[in-house]
Amino acid sequence: MKADQKHWDKRFGKKDFAFGKEPNPFLKKIIRLLPKGKAFDIAAGEGRNAVFLAQHGFEVDAVDISEKGLKKAKKLAKEKGVKINTFLIDLDQYQIQKERYDLIANFYFLRRRLIPRMKQGLKKGGRVIFETYLLEHRKLGTGGPKQAKYFLKPNELLRLFKNFRILFYREGIFREGGKKKAIASLIAEKP
Ligand SMILES: C[S@@+](CC[C@H](N)C(=O)[O-])C[C@H]1O[C@@H](n2cnc3c(N)ncnc32)[C@H](O)[C@@H]1O
Repeated sequence: MKADQKHWDKRFGKKDFAFGKEPNPFLKKIIRLLPKGKAFDIAAGEGRNAVFLAQHGFEVDAVDISEKGLKKAKKLAKEKGVKINTFLIDLDQYQIQKERYDLIANFYFLRRRLIPRMKQGLKKGGRVIFETYLLEHRKLGTGGPKQAKYFLKPNELLRLFKNFRILFYREGIFREGGKKKAIASLIAEKP
């Protein structure tokens, strides 16, 4: 959506990295549980997770609607001495190629309509790693999106992947980088 592009290009247009250069802490902790191969980073932003995956031997396709974000992602990859493929696309319109990926990463981006496409995009035995905010995060006042549709309901992420094998799931309020966050995190395998 054009409005998303404008919003995120503005946010990523600054010199500093809005979400930092370090990977998401959950991804960092469980990297060894993820099958090596071709990875797809959904709404990759400035590339902190895509670059980390590339550093761990994944061949990464990183997609996002923000050109400014993807430019910084390429820059970060260069800085760390790895290569990632970036694609400027609108995920509201995008069809993920069927059975192409060993891993799909989705961090802090929620489009429910995309989930069946993510499932199709994984190879058999491929895994998804997903983390985003729960509705109760709105009460914490520690940032995050504005609209309620971008937040998960209790157990929703678990239900969205109920036809997959759930390897890890948690939800609740956690402290990360000195900030409280209400989130759900999941790793699930395509049967
Ligand atoms: C909260 S950021 C998360 C970025 C990254 N996943 C991370 O954890 O660092 C949300 C991302 O969604 C992207 N985005 C928003 N709407 C999009 C759309 N329609 N298609 C593709 N990307 C979109 C934004 O550009 C932004 O990079």
